[in-house]
Amino acid sequence: MTQDRLLVTDTRTGRQYELPITDGTIHATDLRQIKVSDDDFGLMSYDPAYLNTASCRSSITFIDGGKGILRYRGYPIEVLAEHCSFLEVAWLLLNGELPAQEELDSWVALVKKHVLIHETTKKFLEGFRYDAHPMGMLISTVAALSTVYPDAKNVHDPQVRRKHIVRLIAKMPTITAYCYRHRFGLPYVYPDPELGYTENFMNMLWRLLEPKYIANPVLARALDILFILHADHEQNCSTSTMRTVGSSLADPYVSVAAAAAALSGPLHGGANEQVLHMLDEIGSKDKVPAYIERVKRGEVRLMGFGHRVYKNYDPRAKIIKRTADEVFAVTGYNSKIEIARELERIALEDEYFVKRKLYPNVDFYSGIIYEAMGFEPRLFTVLFAIPRVVGWLAQWDELLRDPEQKIARPRQIYTGHAERRFVPIQDRKK
Ligand code: SDX
Repeated sequence: MTQDRLLVTDTRTGRQYELPITDGTIHATDLRQIKVSDDDFGLMSYDPAYLNTASCRSSITFIDGGKGILRYRGYPIEVLAEHCSFLEVAWLLLNGELPAQEELDSWVALVKKHVLIHETTKKFLEGFRYDAHPMGMLISTVAALSTVYPDAKNVHDPQVRRKHIVRLIAKMPTITAYCYRHRFGLPYVYPDPELGYTENFMNMLWRLLEPKYIANPVLARALDILFILHADHEQNCSTSTMRTVGSSLADPYVSVAAAAAALSGPLHGGANEQVLHMLDEIGSKDKVPAYIERVKRGEVRLMGFGHRVYKNYDPRAKIIKRTADEVFAVTGYNSKIEIARELERIALEDEYFVKRKLYPNVDFYSGIIYEAMGFEPRLFTVLFAIPRVVGWLAQWDELLRDPEQKIARPRQIYTGHAERRFVPIQDRKK
């Protein structure tokens, strides 16, 4: 079969070039042959914010933004959210296949074995003010774990990678629970090996004086589903950060800390917290039209709306919206969902949003559920980071096994001064 090619003519020289097309892309380095003279560096592509640049080959997650499709290793997110546990999906993302029962049982047991954090790490947490933002605590503490596990620097050893992947997945809920307890001056609750992943997280968060914490099964399942929905999302900002830092062969702890730092931004994972602040600011359903007008004037953004890839309804938002009713049946109704639903109703009919293809994304409804469960908005992005650590680590592992990958180092268009004569300080004018 003949190779697909892009034929280009450089009008500066009249020369023609054939650029091979593979997987719907041209290789950016093929542009370098296009020169005006022998000492010309050659053409580069310019793509601020990487709007149209593939940075890697990946077989982990597939998104069709136009159709609102999301699949992990080929399985639709709707099917996984319906039939799987979070740790089952974590195995799928990391290993490429759904686990057999025996594999799942040993995987769950292995994660349970690593849920404790080193006692010195708890002292690290105690150094934060009581009102420190939990994302700052999480990022710092995960980075500090690199000092607890120095062997994690052997990133080319698959066994070492696997050991620290398990440790991070196991310890994220523990660290989060300790951040939560620190906030309220409560004693830390040790993990209960008889509980599942999300039940144990709830135990470490909310157990007080009862001898045994019994998680509400509806809330535990809702949390598990939310974790599944947040586990991976191909080359988003935080995952690209994980890959960039990981490409320098940094250890997985500092790489995850960097990825979590990227996630904390209000345009990314920090949006779920901003959605709740927005709903509080709107205050009631009748004030929604006025807020929409402010959005259209460009004064504020409709947080939880819009997406770089989805130009249709985010499939995760649909599932979260459905899960909300099951949670409210246990926790009591969170009236903020009325404001959210009215925002969605008006926005989906309004030309401003329709023209820009702005739909609710994963962050629009998730915070309302988290708040109904008793979480403060400041913890929401941490609740995003817990499951997303699986996606970050699966993508990091894939990066390190990819022969095409090397240290990430983009180029630039230089817009500064040409060479200038140095001026001694005594001759400089203010
Ligand atoms: C996540 O990438 C991922 O996969 C991320 C994520 C994941 O799972 O990892 O899905 C998680 O981060 C979801 C997104 C959460 N962020 C928010 O909800 C914040 C609000 N959304 C926006 O800031 C925005 O939609 C982004 C950041 C999500 C996407 O931004 P883009 O693709 O850079 O789009 P843009 O800013 O260039 O906007 C295009 C137009 C602009 O209008 P014009 O200049 O053309 O007139 O749409 C407008 C924007 O002003 N617009 C919005 C808007 N989002 C875009 N206007 C009002 N409210 C919004 N939310």
